[in-house]
Amino acid sequence: MTIATRPAKLSAEPAEAEITKAEASILIFGASGDLTARKLIPALFDLWKDGYLADNAPIIGVARRDKTDESFRDELKDDVAKHARNTPQGDEWTKFASRLFYRRLDIDEADQYDAWGRAVEKVEAEAGVEGKRVAYLATAPDLFVPSVEALAKGGLIPKQNGSSDDKSAPWLRVVVEKPFGTDLESAHELSHGLKRLLRENQIYRIDHYLGKETVQNILLFRFGNAIFEPLFNRNHVDHVQITVAESQGIEGGRGGYYDKSGALRDVLQNHVLQLLCLTAMEPPALFLAENLRDEKLKVLQALRPGHASDLAKWAIAGQYIDAEIEGERVPGYRQEDRVPKDSARETFVAMKVLIDNWRWAGVPFYLRTGKRLPARVTEIAIQFKLPPLNLFTTVECEGDVCDLVAQKPNNLVFRIQPKEAIRLTFSTKRPGMNYQIHPVTMDFNYEEAFHKTLPEAYERLLLDVMRGDNTLFTRNDELEAAWRFVDPVLEAWETKGFAPEPYPVGTWGPVEAAKLLTREGRQWREPNPGK
Ligand code: BG6
Repeated sequence: MTIATRPAKLSAEPAEAEITKAEASILIFGASGDLTARKLIPALFDLWKDGYLADNAPIIGVARRDKTDESFRDELKDDVAKHARNTPQGDEWTKFASRLFYRRLDIDEADQYDAWGRAVEKVEAEAGVEGKRVAYLATAPDLFVPSVEALAKGGLIPKQNGSSDDKSAPWLRVVVEKPFGTDLESAHELSHGLKRLLRENQIYRIDHYLGKETVQNILLFRFGNAIFEPLFNRNHVDHVQITVAESQGIEGGRGGYYDKSGALRDVLQNHVLQLLCLTAMEPPALFLAENLRDEKLKVLQALRPGHASDLAKWAIAGQYIDAEIEGERVPGYRQEDRVPKDSARETFVAMKVLIDNWRWAGVPFYLRTGKRLPARVTEIAIQFKLPPLNLFTTVECEGDVCDLVAQKPNNLVFRIQPKEAIRLTFSTKRPGMNYQIHPVTMDFNYEEAFHKTLPEAYERLLLDVMRGDNTLFTRNDELEAAWRFVDPVLEAWETKGFAPEPYPVGTWGPVEAAKLLTREGRQWREPNPGK
């Protein structure tokens, strides 16, 4: 019997033949906005530089302001220099910029749609890329549906809507940024509005967390190894902690948006619940979009709905207040730009969540996210159960000085950012004449292992849209299930008289959040981003 093996040495980059250059025009609605400047154009530059974009495919900015192609290019030059992974060398910027175009459109002026559609088609025809387009909606949410209407009335939605098996048939794929609704009802309405003109497989709801390399690696780690997966269940896991902590406050004039949103809508409903799904889901039968999304959906559907009557026992809201850090006064949330002085909006949320299925019954998942915490760090920590018998003494040593400590459980940590890593903590015998346990950590660090800076989430996601792969995008039923879970909490928090618990900037959230765990004999981790 011969066993096929892969070459032992993998090249750092895919072989030339594996790179399919994406050949489609990319329309960016909201081209004057922050997302376009800080994320989308830099990501497209990096894709182009790494050989993933065809040389002729145009990128067409669409917005209300008057601009020429030249002024659009000029204003993005510094953003690419600042935010792209690769610094443009020599004439690279000029080459890349020659594919950037700007075609003004005021969405409120429906009589412009037709002429605008022709102008877009002209750019595409001149570039030799016709009938294949991505439309990225990087606008305010109230412009999502009108933008798609502009595409329809501008004649830019192909008749077949990409339904044909013929690879040369024209298609349109529409990327929708968050927030995708503000609750279940509005998300449903938005979906309904989009589906009047598009089919589900044309809608790419983006959650940039799914584009992060280390987030994707959760699946590879779980389902590409045989030894860990048998441990991922109620027999072995004591609890799971998912942390998305940010040290920054509400910057860049985001106060207006954030005060309508808050930590629950802004990060927990989407990014944190997606991390939870990837950690808890069953292995899919095939590694294909629909199989994966089916499994994630099952997790969301199994989340035990919490009751508003005992909310304080499982969901805690916090709001940061000013404090001194290293001799400097850092303002509280209510002192931030565009935030009402009496705002009751949560900037922190912690939750204890239970998944009612066979695998996870009774295992608490503690989730938390917040602004102005001590560090920017995102991680998933799986804490295993202690051995059934405590046979040895456990010590922790600094140099030669050792202290007796409580027995330490095994821990598996997926560090999503910064310093992307996977760490397994286990017990070893401390060298010496006694049987003493000393906890140690086995550490896999991305940068050290692969000597490579990781691609930005938007690079991967933009490329996937062009390839027509929606595996890393959220399906409508997933999204609605996530809203269905958080809606009762939002409703309770938005009733009159509710006030989030205060926490000073630079701390790990309000005392009540700590009690969620201490009451059950557990403790939040205090992750150190430097390690
Ligand atoms: C965004 C939120 O979706 O995610 C922001 O709107 C948040 O408020 C950001 O800061 C966090 O993303 P990352 O990739 O920096 O962890």
